[in-house]
Amino acid sequence: MSDVARQPARASGEFAIGGDLHVRRLGYGSMQIPGPGVWGEPRDHDEVIRVLRRAIDLGVTFIDTAAAYGPEVSERLIHEALHPYPEDLVIATKAGFMRSGPGRWEINGKPEFLKSQAEKSLRLLGLERIELFQLHRIDPEVPLPDQLGALLELQAEGKVGRIGLSEVTVPQIEAAREITSIATVQNLYNLSERRAEPVLDYCEREGIGFIPWFPMATGGLAQHDGPLQRIGEKHDVTPAQLALAWLLQRSPVLLPIPGTSSLAHLEENVGAALIELTPEQVQQLDAASHEIAFT
Ligand SMILES: NC(=O)c1ccc[n+]([C@@H]2O[C@H](COP(=O)([O-])OP(=O)(O)OC[C@H]3O[C@@H](n4cnc5c(N)ncnc54)[C@H](OP(=O)(O)O)[C@@H]3O)[C@@H](O)[C@H]2O)c1
Repeated sequence: MSDVARQPARASGEFAIGGDLHVRRLGYGSMQIPGPGVWGEPRDHDEVIRVLRRAIDLGVTFIDTAAAYGPEVSERLIHEALHPYPEDLVIATKAGFMRSGPGRWEINGKPEFLKSQAEKSLRLLGLERIELFQLHRIDPEVPLPDQLGALLELQAEGKVGRIGLSEVTVPQIEAAREITSIATVQNLYNLSERRAEPVLDYCEREGIGFIPWFPMATGGLAQHDGPLQRIGEKHDVTPAQLALAWLLQRSPVLLPIPGTSSLAHLEENVGAALIELTPEQVQQLDAASHEIAFT
């Protein structure tokens, strides 16, 4: 069996985050690991452990997580499933949200909070250094230089490698880049929700990694009764695979991180890396995207 047949994520190609941190472009997002409302323990602990291990078997080298997922649950289970980590695995985490219950998220960009979250992530993940550390949200109540200052202090201490942002506009990225280099941006983006297009174009021009969150519109794009089903049918490709293949083809800086707590869905999703869309299919997908209500 060839390397790509064994590890389909290889077919998605590579991207060098910050110019030197190499990952395969099709990654895995771990927000679906905790219980409902991204809170507490998973419904099926053993399946989650199997999903994480299988992602590595399938060639995934980029996992996105956050201190707020659970909170702490996602990072702890990544450690349980994968530590000691493969050398080429990059675990990106984030800080900047406090959690007080299922579905409840409160922004906190106070420097002390960001630093304590980083320390907790290092401990839970069992890492000495977080290679990509993302500010989960810019806190409008805290000056940006203070928020990024906390991340820079962590970097100076060797606890953080590169710095990323999440849910930002082009002017916000530019303001951040006056203070430090920005390796990645993580914004909401998928076939049916493209408001971040100017940010993606900016990232492509500047060589910044763009991590689209909700790459399958929280599963809406993966449904089997919508327009994507029609387009995929002829080619034996599933709706989820079309949505992910579209992202991979859209820009070389795009790093999709589809989330799932199901082994079957994981295998299907990683298989998207093997799909090359024809210009006709891309056209059909663009047309169909107007029919798809973003959920
Ligand atoms: N920066 C931010 O503010 C932010 C916000 C949200 C998310 N994120 C990141 O982005 C990642 C991706 O977002 P997401 O996981 O919430 O949404 P998503 O990847 O768009 O969709 C995940 C949903 O789709 C379902 N699904 C996955 N594969 C499927 C398939 N092949 N067929 C049918 N259904 C499928 C999953 O259910 P099953 O579990 O049943 O497969 C889950 O409900 C997160 O894990 C997280 O790392 C970041």
